[in-house]
Amino acid sequence: MRILLTGSTGQVGRAILADLAADAEHQVFAPRRDRLDLRDLDALRRIVYELRPDLIVNPAAYTAVDRAESDAEAAFRLNAEAPAVLARAAADCGVGFVHFSTDYVFDGRKAGPYSETDAPNPINVYGRSKLAGDEAVLASGARAVILRTSWVYDEVGRNFLTTMLRLGQERPALRVVADQHGAPTSTAVIARTVRAVIARFASAGRSGEALPRGLVNCACAGETNWHGFATAIFAGLRRRGTALSVRSVEPVASAEYLTAANRPANSRLCLHRLRDVLGITPPDWAAELEAVLDRAVAIGSAPGSPPGCP
Ligand SMILES: NC(=O)c1ccc[n+]([C@@H]2O[C@H](COP(=O)([O-])OP(=O)(O)OC[C@H]3O[C@@H](n4cnc5c(N)ncnc54)[C@H](OP(=O)(O)O)[C@@H]3O)[C@@H](O)[C@H]2O)c1
Repeated sequence: MRILLTGSTGQVGRAILADLAADAEHQVFAPRRDRLDLRDLDALRRIVYELRPDLIVNPAAYTAVDRAESDAEAAFRLNAEAPAVLARAAADCGVGFVHFSTDYVFDGRKAGPYSETDAPNPINVYGRSKLAGDEAVLASGARAVILRTSWVYDEVGRNFLTTMLRLGQERPALRVVADQHGAPTSTAVIARTVRAVIARFASAGRSGEALPRGLVNCACAGETNWHGFATAIFAGLRRRGTALSVRSVEPVASAEYLTAANRPANSRLCLHRLRDVLGITPPDWAAELEAVLDRAVAIGSAPGSPPGCP
């Protein structure tokens, strides 16, 4: 398949690009921001009409959740207008579309995990801009799948794990929020899911088989909170021989750790549709963390002994 991939320098885009690079069946066009600026809506339209890909995969986004509170115009341009334009062009050209949504479209007041049919009610600008993008993609008429994910991290990006790794080496004590609940989700799990979606688009193209459409939650199984995640990261790093200066990790309430944007207390996502529609049973977040920490040590982003070494 000819695939147009945006955001290939970001966490999710980089993982998708690496995953697809191993597959000779696909020809991937992944222009970086200097070649394709998503704020240039005419350029977005043009690239779809000129390239005529089979599929667009669009992880590019404005993801600075706190900055978005004072930069709403830029967040809406990237997260709502750009996907709207891309999805409409995809619909016009008969191109498939894979997009990404967030747990932050919810207010977090639900008692259980959020399913794809739960009504969103974002409580920050980032969430509102992403929701506007989801709605535009769904209304575009494109053959679109939107993967709604949460708490994304890996061993190389700028994320909670790499921040904890740095802070854990610099500071003796940390305070981490313990009243926001969700599932940390590695970019590897998201890339594997994207591969499954692409395979479905490819086989539907050949056989006319029905494609999954619409929202599909895509996260690791199980749940924790940020304090639980931080504690598991430090325990896993210590087991791998990483020297840490942090001795105490104190759980705090969100109200004690003020940020510009409000964040939902419940980010848990129901994963039934992921299993039923795409046939994917994601790993538990804690097991997946172990695999990510192994990779972090192996590539040297976390100093320690690589797995298998004494
Ligand atoms: N991170 C999370 O915890 C999380 C949680 C739930 C959902 N999501 C969603 O998952 C998707 C992927 O997120 P991520 O964590 O991979 O994001 P990320 O690491 O912040 O990457 C964003 C990507 O978008 C690109 N981009 C930003 N502005 C651009 C512009 N004007 N023109 C062209 N490219 C531009 C960035 O390019 P540069 O490198 O040039 O800046 C980067 O490649 C997004 O839709 C996000 O909303 C993320």
